[in-house]
Amino acid sequence: MDAVEERAPTEVLVVASDVSFARRCERNLSRKDDFVVETAGTVEEAIGHVTGERAIDCIVSEFDLPETDGIAFLEMVRAHAPAVPFILVADAAEEKQVSHAVTGHVTDYFLKEDLSDDGIFGRLIDNLVAYYREQNELSSSTISRAGTLLDHANDMIAVLDAGQIRYINQTGVGLLRGEDRAEFLGQPIAEWLDDPPESSLTDRLRQVQRGKLSLEVFDQILERVDGTALPVAVYTSRIDWTDGPAVALIIRDVESRKRLESELSLKNRAIDTAPIGITIADMAEPDNPLVYANDHFLELTGYAESEVLGRNSRFLQGEDTDPEPVARMREAIEADESVSVELRNYRKDGCMFWNRVTLAPIENAEGDVTHYLGFQEDVTERVAMQQRLRRFKQAVEAAGHAIYLTKPDGTITYVNPAFERITG
Ligand SMILES: Cc1cc2nc3c(=O)[nH]c(=O)nc-3n(C[C@H](O)[C@H](O)[C@H](O)COP(=O)(O)O)c2cc1C
Repeated sequence: MDAVEERAPTEVLVVASDVSFARRCERNLSRKDDFVVETAGTVEEAIGHVTGERAIDCIVSEFDLPETDGIAFLEMVRAHAPAVPFILVADAAEEKQVSHAVTGHVTDYFLKEDLSDDGIFGRLIDNLVAYYREQNELSSSTISRAGTLLDHANDMIAVLDAGQIRYINQTGVGLLRGEDRAEFLGQPIAEWLDDPPESSLTDRLRQVQRGKLSLEVFDQILERVDGTALPVAVYTSRIDWTDGPAVALIIRDVESRKRLESELSLKNRAIDTAPIGITIADMAEPDNPLVYANDHFLELTGYAESEVLGRNSRFLQGEDTDPEPVARMREAIEADESVSVELRNYRKDGCMFWNRVTLAPIENAEGDVTHYLGFQEDVTERVAMQQRLRRFKQAVEAAGHAIYLTKPDGTITYVNPAFERITG
């Protein structure tokens, strides 16, 4: 059986002091099966519904209400439900009502005398509610994406109110060696952070929250759940949270950051100064331009970095480049595979050199190939030697004289065809 998506009923609140109008509205809307209609005769009763347990999807209000008018009532509603659709029903004979309805921040307005049995009023509510729900879903998915982003931050991020944790990201839970966010929510941060040098942590946090200290940075020891201690850098600043100012706390694991940074800089230096050409191409960009070339590659090819980055490496090929190794590289790249070829390339000054190119795909965490690593090695001398050897062998084979090669002990290891002919 196909799954049918169950649509939640539409909760409509009709606010009217005119009882006969309220009945008419109720009757008109109740004809739609998926509408649940509530009525309120006073503003107080209406606000009770808005702040009650059941979420109201749409408010239909008369302009004239016993204690106030529809526009002032709208202001009160917005304090509790900033986006709920609000339809003002105006009396066409009352010009003031109509102009207020048009200029006020109502979602839409409807004329009392247009309320008939043709179903238009119900359809208007349907459309407004569908739009409202869509916007709601959009903003809640944005919020959940922002939460995911915070959970993947490198640093612990927490929000404190009066020194107590109101929010903590997943990195923070891990850094504190906890298992679940719930362990920390509502707890005083002082349980895990000692007082900073020279003053009490609680005092400093209070001053930041009151706006008396703008940004505080101090080095501290984090006492973790498992009893281990970690040197950290603490950054605090005042932010606006759901109901007033709070303190945003960022805690950075300095040691592991330093270790990572020095490891990274060692690797960078090793790659920059390696005695072989190293290049990286971005496979997500059209025509896979180079995004990195090390010093040796620049020396080998004679180009400046700015002339190389942003271009596909085929600019090194020329008229006498054999198309076969080029095709092998193309096919390997198309198949996300590694490959090694030797081919004629040309330096910036036009000189040819034999390049041994080795290409290897680099995958991201999802297993997609995002970059290719290329190694370039100048093998001109070796290729020239092989060519000389090949030519020498051809000459010896074609010679009319008998030629033979021996080991130092006199054992013959090679004889040419002329030797075989002459000696029989
Ligand atoms: C990281 C990387 C480095 C490359 N280095 C060279 C190179 O040094 N010399 C060369 O002729 N081709 C090199 N290529 C291959 C060319 O960029 C290109 O892939 C090859 O010419 C096949 O594609 P095409 O038929 O579209 O030209 C490299 C490719 C990559 C991805």
